[in-house]
Amino acid sequence: MRIPVIAGNWKMHKTVGEALSLVRSIKAGMGDTSHCQVVIAPPFTALAPVSEEIRGTSLMLAAQNVFWEPKGAYTGEISLPMLEGAGCRMAILGHSERRQYFSETDATVNRRIHAVLGSTLQPIVCIGETLAEREAGKHHSVIAQQLAGGLDRLTQEGLLRIILAYEPVWAIGTGRTASPETAQEMHRHIRNWLSEKFGKVAEEIRILYGGSVKPDNIDTLMRQPDIDGALVGGACLEADSFLRIIHFKP
Ligand code: PGA
Repeated sequence: MRIPVIAGNWKMHKTVGEALSLVRSIKAGMGDTSHCQVVIAPPFTALAPVSEEIRGTSLMLAAQNVFWEPKGAYTGEISLPMLEGAGCRMAILGHSERRQYFSETDATVNRRIHAVLGSTLQPIVCIGETLAEREAGKHHSVIAQQLAGGLDRLTQEGLLRIILAYEPVWAIGTGRTASPETAQEMHRHIRNWLSEKFGKVAEEIRILYGGSVKPDNIDTLMRQPDIDGALVGGACLEADSFLRIIHFKP
């Protein structure tokens, strides 16, 4: 019922030339991907050329962030009409690196979500606790707080367009993946929270896991009942490892 999503977050990697070369290798090795949606999120500078390169394929293009105003004097920002024009179908919002280094908060994530829902794009909303929060036993309440703040004033219809990504901060780029059981437990917690707030539609929402997803752990992660896909960082920068993750074995 929930179509899996495998999304590659390229972060601040790849020039235009490098991006085109990676996307050509992904295209060449992709094969049949009808079992899932494959999303790639290159840096802003590569969006338009990559969009041309993936025309006619099933690959979907995402941005790594977006500002909520449609235009204006906001030096250095990128708007939704710009992303639409560059061929984007989705935008990653509230990534922990945005929260950690660029002052993103649940309130600003919420503004971005509402703006994206007013566009043709679909938001991929990231949440996740830090190591200190988990060790203090606060992970459930931190996630509940991020959901309450991030999804404030959202309708059921709005929620249905959202993809969530649970990314424990201690697992991002560390090689320390959450065990499938730990991830499943949190994914269930997130779905329970959604169902209390929004009702039965919670069963339709895709919740991706992110944090050191690799070819050798994707299969067991994807076998968990509430894990509906992956947001992949490091392992999406090489075609071979990303292709293996796309072709996870259920
Ligand atoms: P990682 O990054 O796979 O390199 O841990 C995941 C992410 O930050 O989306």
